[in-house]
Amino acid sequence: MSAESLDLDTPPSRLSQAQAEALVLELREEIRRHDYLYYVKGEPAVADSVYDRLYRRLLQVEEAHPDLVTPDSPTQRVGTEPQDALPTLAHAAPMLSLDSTKDPEEVRRFHDRILKAVEGDEVDYLLEPKLDGVSMELVYEDGRLTRAVTRGNGRQGEGVTENVRTIPSVPLRLREEERTPPSFLSVRGEILMRLSAFEALNQSLLEHGQEPFANPRNATSGAIRQLDASITAKRPLELLAYDILDVRGASFRTDLEGVEALRQWGLPVPERVTVARSVEEILDYHAAYDADRDVLDYEIDGIVVKLNALDERADLGSTSRHPRWALAFKFEPRKEVTRIERIAVQVGRTGVLTPVALLLPVEVGGVTVSRATLHNREELERKDVREGDRVRVQRAGDVIPQVVEVVPEEGRERNPPFTMPTECPNCGTPVELRGPFTLCPNRFGCSAQLKGRIVHFASRHGLDIEGLGEETAALLVDRELVRELADLFELTPEVLVPLPGFAEKSATNLVEAIRSRRATDLRRFLFGLGIPEVGVAVAADLARHFRTLEAVRAADSEALQQVRGVGPIMSEQIVAFFADERNAAAIDAVAGKMERLEVEAPAGEGGALEGKRFVFTGALEAMSRSRAKKLVEGLGARATGSVSGETDVLVAGEAAGSKLTRAQELGVEIMEEEAFLALLREHGVEW
Ligand code: IVH
Repeated sequence: MSAESLDLDTPPSRLSQAQAEALVLELREEIRRHDYLYYVKGEPAVADSVYDRLYRRLLQVEEAHPDLVTPDSPTQRVGTEPQDALPTLAHAAPMLSLDSTKDPEEVRRFHDRILKAVEGDEVDYLLEPKLDGVSMELVYEDGRLTRAVTRGNGRQGEGVTENVRTIPSVPLRLREEERTPPSFLSVRGEILMRLSAFEALNQSLLEHGQEPFANPRNATSGAIRQLDASITAKRPLELLAYDILDVRGASFRTDLEGVEALRQWGLPVPERVTVARSVEEILDYHAAYDADRDVLDYEIDGIVVKLNALDERADLGSTSRHPRWALAFKFEPRKEVTRIERIAVQVGRTGVLTPVALLLPVEVGGVTVSRATLHNREELERKDVREGDRVRVQRAGDVIPQVVEVVPEEGRERNPPFTMPTECPNCGTPVELRGPFTLCPNRFGCSAQLKGRIVHFASRHGLDIEGLGEETAALLVDRELVRELADLFELTPEVLVPLPGFAEKSATNLVEAIRSRRATDLRRFLFGLGIPEVGVAVAADLARHFRTLEAVRAADSEALQQVRGVGPIMSEQIVAFFADERNAAAIDAVAGKMERLEVEAPAGEGGALEGKRFVFTGALEAMSRSRAKKLVEGLGARATGSVSGETDVLVAGEAAGSKLTRAQELGVEIMEEEAFLALLREHGVEW
């Protein structure tokens, strides 16, 4: 098919229905081919004017024959109506994150672990750049893009299908020319913005008197979360796909075969995907990409090393967060030199005093940095950082910028060493020293700590209360409107309106935002309480394990240690936190304000096998082991690599070996393939 042989002139009204239908199909095929050549391969075959004629012709014929419009038509990238909210959607398979390191020795240890696990002396790794964009799941059903979901918490994310459809390099239909598309494909990739496009966007924002974006990732993330897809469509976004999360109607032996299939289906994949066999080859690849980092037109922050053989991956399995078969091997973060104007001391929600360097603003890897943490008293002394010093600062990912070292200056007289205050700079209470830390012990009387607790309670992983950030928390505490967390729920628009920065609408919005969070997930509430050592992941695990706030509070150290990721030290801290009388009273008060504390259901079919541990061995006839693992995980079970006393079920396929013997020794339940398939069927799972 070529542009010349297409009918571009007959007025649509003179085309019969059958002619119009045939023409529409031909035009779409031709436009898709050019989209693919232009956006994915970067090898346009026709002038823009030729493409524009094809596109306008398709629009014209579709307008005259609206019954012929289908969602996968190239004219349908931008939907018509903005949405009210982004829906929450479950992923086809969990989207894990990667374990990461900057240390080559760690890469060697990773390699050793893998060799040991696969019981061989050679393995293939797939090497790829680690793209610094926004992670996304794209789902194709019968070759059509039906869903795009952000990573979210790894189990479910925000449905941003309408927005992703506007990205020109995202195929709305998989290509069929080289390989038949599968009936179902869930693929993970990164949405990103090229640096050149990012700079042009910022330039144009500045010219229109608008705020520029701090970096391409922020710009991408903002664009992807728009409720109005026509705004996303104006942003220069791209996709690079790198991982098959789930597929039906196709199967692969290696990741490389999978990447090749993605390429054939018309999905853009990262550059220079390579197979390596040794740590030396991995180090070379890392060094080569690091050297090219400044000439690449998009940001990468390292490389990803993944075991290539999919069955070997299945054997290794995952921890609750990361697959054991992959490692992100990151680059050293970017560093810049600037001067410290002053050192300030901040009091955080736990009472820890943190020295903070206030800097002459400097751009580090595309972001302006004007503050950097000096961590604690010991770090400050070790680095001997003083006011007025020239220092090297670094920024790595999302973490707070840090002062790495002092850059010596000859002939310049330095200020005297900086010493931490002996009294809390906020409330004047004498500080206490604990290891490297300096603490204000006035937990319930120090307003800085209360402000910190409020901000944490309202933060994104806590109750996620919109409009309750640092400034507002400070105002509420300083005006004595909030003396403990529970008081937040007593706020009314009337008391807020007279405050600086508030008006009728913003006051009502904040009160409403707080009220709307009275029903929330238990894990958010637990995280929001700011229990020492309890981060997002542990809060989620505690909630899933104990299911009610009362049960968590009643748990002793031993019971707490039954939870994944909770060790003896953490469990003691948790027990002590709940045992403290004033904490207990504050928790009673705030819990009393909540309407409902729910436990989030696991993704998938509803967790029929919740908590059960499965091990697979030998070959299954009906599916690969990796698929089998995903299916049981979808039912809430865990699939692990080796048989132990904790294993509940061993599924034994053809030619099962030592794992079967071990399971028999331990008296673990053994299921043959037949019984396993029956179990899946019983839970309504198809494969
Ligand atoms: S593989 C479970 N490959 O890096 C492993 N991830 O925590 C699946 N990322 O946000 C991920 N480039 O989205 C993989 N070539 C690549 C990647 C990549 C970037 C992202 C990923 C996640 C983060 C790792």
